[in-house]
Amino acid sequence: MLPPRMADLERVHARLLEWYTSNARDLPWRRTRDPYAILVAEVMLQQTQVDRVIPKWHAWLARFPTLADLARATRADAIRAWQGLGYNLRAVRLHTIAQQALTDYGGRLPRDVEGLLQLKGIGRYTAGAVACFAYEQPVAMVDTNVRRVLSRVFGWDPRTVDRLAKSVVPVPSAYAWSQALMDLGATLCRPRRPLCLVCPLVADCGGPRPRALPANSEETAAEQFQGSRRFYRGRIVQLLRDVPLGEAVALADLVRHAGGRRDLVHELAADGLVRIDSAERVRLAD
Ligand code: ADE
Repeated sequence: MLPPRMADLERVHARLLEWYTSNARDLPWRRTRDPYAILVAEVMLQQTQVDRVIPKWHAWLARFPTLADLARATRADAIRAWQGLGYNLRAVRLHTIAQQALTDYGGRLPRDVEGLLQLKGIGRYTAGAVACFAYEQPVAMVDTNVRRVLSRVFGWDPRTVDRLAKSVVPVPSAYAWSQALMDLGATLCRPRRPLCLVCPLVADCGGPRPRALPANSEETAAEQFQGSRRFYRGRIVQLLRDVPLGEAVALADLVRHAGGRRDLVHELAADGLVRIDSAERVRLAD
């Protein structure tokens, strides 16, 4: 797969970083650069949802405020404190990492990926996350969300993303870039029914255009239905349903995703289902 052209890449960087400036989720581990606190967050986030991690992360850091505190605790203490997070082996891994870092590195976590990988229990993803989020190193880290976003945007085979991700990291903004990819993957570029209409990268994205209606087993009937007035009216309403509350979509973008049927958007407005404002932005009627 070809790397993106430089001009295209710069535009993707600019658009995603600008979007992140006003849409970043306010997550507590983004307010610290403490490598240990970031390590704890990343290990918790590997198999647990953000909302469930937040209180557990605070509680863990209250119980073991530093890496040395964790290293000096017993394994059983760590397992107990992990309660409610599931996949308890992660507590053992964290505890082992803390002990090894205390013995081998005087209680500090190494700054670069190679050094971090020396710690048993730290894999590529976690090493990248700590190097980037704690030490602002320009490295990539690829989890499921980031893999999906990058493969869609750049049209890459998902199996090649781990190898290629580094080539698109903007060196001065690596931290924001990776956090932004995660936010985009979690909020708009979702696995199913991505919200392409409000995505900052929609014009640059090489991914497949979203289907507005869920696939069903009656493909033939669906194909006949496609192109019909009712089909596109349904699609327009479905697309607008997916738009986060309080947001609107540019009429031109909506039309592009609705077979060019501008007339149907106006028809829906006349019917009172949608509202088009004076800036030609469309939302469901309130
Ligand atoms: N998932 C994994 N790491 C994350 C992070 N730093 N912020 C939000 N979600 C994440």
